[in-house]
Amino acid sequence: MDEDKYPAPSSRRRFVKGIVGSAAMGSLGVAGSGLTTVPTNRSGVGGGSVKAKVIKNTDGPANRGMSQIPITVEDGALKGLWPTAVDGGEVEDGVATATLGGVEYSNKWFQYCGIQTHPKIAPESEADNFLRVDNGSDGSITYDWQSELEAGAKLTVDDFADYEEWGNGVGDDGLGKPAAANWRSVEADSSLPVQVIRSPEIERLAEDDEWIAASTEKGFIAWLNKCTHLCCVPSGFKQSATVDGAANAVYCQCHQSIYDPFDVVSKVFTAFPRPEE
Ligand code: FES
Repeated sequence: MDEDKYPAPSSRRRFVKGIVGSAAMGSLGVAGSGLTTVPTNRSGVGGGSVKAKVIKNTDGPANRGMSQIPITVEDGALKGLWPTAVDGGEVEDGVATATLGGVEYSNKWFQYCGIQTHPKIAPESEADNFLRVDNGSDGSITYDWQSELEAGAKLTVDDFADYEEWGNGVGDDGLGKPAAANWRSVEADSSLPVQVIRSPEIERLAEDDEWIAASTEKGFIAWLNKCTHLCCVPSGFKQSATVDGAANAVYCQCHQSIYDPFDVVSKVFTAFPRPEE
């Protein structure tokens, strides 16, 4: 079996228990309805309406895209940019905000599906911000090629050296090389699931899009890999050869939502508040 075509065994249930938790699912309050951006009346800090850059939802029941994580490269390793690490970034009223590529970027982008309860999503929480290899923990789906990497190691540019040719038998070769990772998760009880790809298409888009130029580097684009429908961790990029429109896109195996990582759009949604500290 070509394991890159099929999700590796998933520990999603453990992730749901660890991050989403009963309180967070309760705050959704709409299990089975497909709604995820409903307002919440739970108390907390740093929630409310936010406009985020997301990889576009193109099919299926999800009602918006998944939030992009701006990427930089430091000493050859991939790093997600936290708002306070951006020049001029600040924390005000419980929200970390910065202007990047002409866009207001904040930690509110990630406050949905229970992620808002993760301790490392608080604006001033300490984290090294490197994208680290995730070989299947907390529900992430891995790719065959990354089994040679050590779990928890920093993902590096060199790991993606063959990105212009890479293929896994699904969709078109050379469109981009993906990896499952986690972010801001060192010494945390649970992981923030991330998917990253390196693609010539992203390099091309960065040539004439201010936001893409600022939020990607060397063709790398990343997003919080948490489906906005009912909070599954999607199997990811080039993981379904059979579902229409999924072969060269990001696929959520739970209810067949599809996302296009090469179409980044702005989307307004209601971020859930974080618990009071
Ligand atoms: S499509 Fe339902 S959780 Fe992803």
